[in-house]
Amino acid sequence: MDLESHRFIGYFEPEQAQKLCQLALVEDHPDGDLIFEEGEIPDYLYLVLKGRVEFSKRAEGDRYQVVTVAEPNSFFGEFGVLDGQPRSARAIAKGGATLAKVSRDHLMTILRDARGEVVLQLFSYITRQLRVTTTQYVKQMVRKQKMELLGEMVNTILHDFRSPFTGIQLSSSMIRELHPDEETQEWCDLISMQIQRMLGMAEEVLEFSRGSTTLSRRRVDVREMLERFENLNRVYFQSCGIEWKIDIREEIYIRADSNKILRVLQNLVGNAIEALEDREGHVTITAQIRDNWCEISIQDDGPGIPEMIQDHLFDAFVTYGKQGGTGLGTAIAKSIVEAHGGAIGFESNPAAGTTFWIRLPLSHDDPIRDEIVEEVRLV
Ligand SMILES: Nc1ncnc2c1ncn2[C@@H]1O[C@H](COP(=O)(O)OP(=O)(O)O)[C@@H](O)[C@H]1O
Ligand SMILES: [Mg+2]
Repeated sequence: MDLESHRFIGYFEPEQAQKLCQLALVEDHPDGDLIFEEGEIPDYLYLVLKGRVEFSKRAEGDRYQVVTVAEPNSFFGEFGVLDGQPRSARAIAKGGATLAKVSRDHLMTILRDARGEVVLQLFSYITRQLRVTTTQYVKQMVRKQKMELLGEMVNTILHDFRSPFTGIQLSSSMIRELHPDEETQEWCDLISMQIQRMLGMAEEVLEFSRGSTTLSRRRVDVREMLERFENLNRVYFQSCGIEWKIDIREEIYIRADSNKILRVLQNLVGNAIEALEDREGHVTITAQIRDNWCEISIQDDGPGIPEMIQDHLFDAFVTYGKQGGTGLGTAIAKSIVEAHGGAIGFESNPAAGTTFWIRLPLSHDDPIRDEIVEEVRLV
């Protein structure tokens, strides 16, 4: 947008507006450019013409907490300009931004001559913005506290569960030794795998609450991964009475942490089954190559995702219509998929049901490449 049509300029009488436009300096800021730092003495008011500016406050250590974002037609830095106090947050251009800045001295001179109505409009805009920012900030703080609490709880549970889990593992090994027949061996394997899964699930929640995870990526055969998923879930699927189908018609290799992707599938398939609520429904998992990505979709013919939660579905703690829902399943799924550099989404309506899809990077490498272990931040 051009400077003349910016909301802030619109508050003033034509003569003052023109003067402001003449005095303003228009500057382009590349992605990541620091516009001002927290604590700095304010010298300018900024009008956003293009792009976005992100504001963050210093949190513990050298971490920053994002407070709010300014978009075109909004302005910022007015507090410091009006009261002369140090900047309360730092401002950084996101993905490139064009800003017009007006110096404090110029602005104060113009404001002194401005009509009461101009000041009133300005005042009302600032109050509105303050309200929005405060609400967002409080929401973020509540989320942060919930996350910390969640981390502590899972840690305690995990600690207490380790010894009974070890007991179950040991008993299953005893049974395996006492009954060498094939069927018993298979059931004992299943018990061991499920115990590992339970520990894995708890670890996953713990990592999510901490905000980082360790990915052990290697070349993964998607067909094998889906077969493993089916083996782990056969008994569960049968007990729910659903009809399931796994559809993979081509060879697909991805570079992924297969245990983590299995968790994603588990969360999404778990949701599909819960949505079917013991009705005889269908769940189909399809894997295919699409636009140079591996796309895995999970389709159900359930009642669809309630519209009121669709916009925030992937936020943590968003749950609807089930007892004991934590609202973490889809949030964890998203964090894992994005940690892999992939994407997740869904289509849902009450008539056709719900389809979740995840897109993961294909592996074009030589099959015998080493596994890559890295610590990844979750968002
Ligand atoms: N396949 C689906 N069909 C219908 N609703 C769904 C489906 N998947 C998710 N949902 C809705 O999204 C909500 C959030 O899911 P999730 O993040 O896994 O948390 P939780 O399952 O603990 O509630 C669920 O409570 C449910 O209302
Ligand atoms: Mg869930």
